[in-house]
Amino acid sequence: MEVIEARDIWKSYGSNCVLRGLNLSVREGDVVGIVGRSGTGKTTLIKILGLLEAPDSGSIKILGRDVNGLSEHEASRLRLNLIGIIPQSFNLIPHLTVIENVELPLYLRGVGKTYRRARALELLRRFDLQHLASRYPHELSGGEQQRVLAIRAFINKPKLVLADEPTAYLDVDNAIVIYKMFEELVSESNSAVIITATNYDEILISCRKYLLGSGSLKEF
Ligand SMILES: Nc1ncnc2c1ncn2[C@@H]1O[C@H](COP(=O)(O)OP(=O)(O)OP(=O)(O)O)[C@@H](O)[C@H]1O
Ligand SMILES: [Mg+2]
Repeated sequence: MEVIEARDIWKSYGSNCVLRGLNLSVREGDVVGIVGRSGTGKTTLIKILGLLEAPDSGSIKILGRDVNGLSEHEASRLRLNLIGIIPQSFNLIPHLTVIENVELPLYLRGVGKTYRRARALELLRRFDLQHLASRYPHELSGGEQQRVLAIRAFINKPKLVLADEPTAYLDVDNAIVIYKMFEELVSESNSAVIITATNYDEILISCRKYLLGSGSLKEF
């Protein structure tokens, strides 16, 4: 089953044509790595696939459903139910504790507190982060913050997780931990993850790797 299929995606900012007929198809169970130098359009692509920004032209299907021209309301519902996004900059809410941050997507879906807490704790425990539950984001290391972000992205059991340079500021050991988490969460929930990086060496495990250059993807 195709989780997401992007066809002939074009996107410009003014005269800067960033994506030029890009194609990408991701299936359940895929861990896809996208490498591109700074400014090649990785974040632009993540935003378009995450329905945060519309392409100028081209089509996007999520689970076979055409999502072109959805209203902002419909797009945010789809995002909440099907997509987990790990933005490029750390994005934990500073005045919420770790466990409150992890629960946030469930809270936004109206899930009750008891279940929310239990599911967040279960995930934190699975990845040995339960001791961080009541800390605030500024009390975590960069690697710990990225792990909490990864858990939060998966807490709703999304079909697709989009991780924009999740290992950019991490050493290799911490980067491997993040990749192993992605692999495990993807295989158990039959979802898919797309991970971007600026370097080939940062893509540590993935079933398919692409280079983003001149506005399109080439497998390598
Ligand atoms: N909102 C915007 N308005 C105008 N130009 C933009 C906007 N967002 C991105 N750009 C431009 O589009 C190009 C691609 O940007 P993007 O953020 O997608 O690159 P990136 O590959 O994620 O880079 P990095 O590795 O530095 O994060 C850049 O030239 C950038 O300046
Ligand atoms: Mg970027």
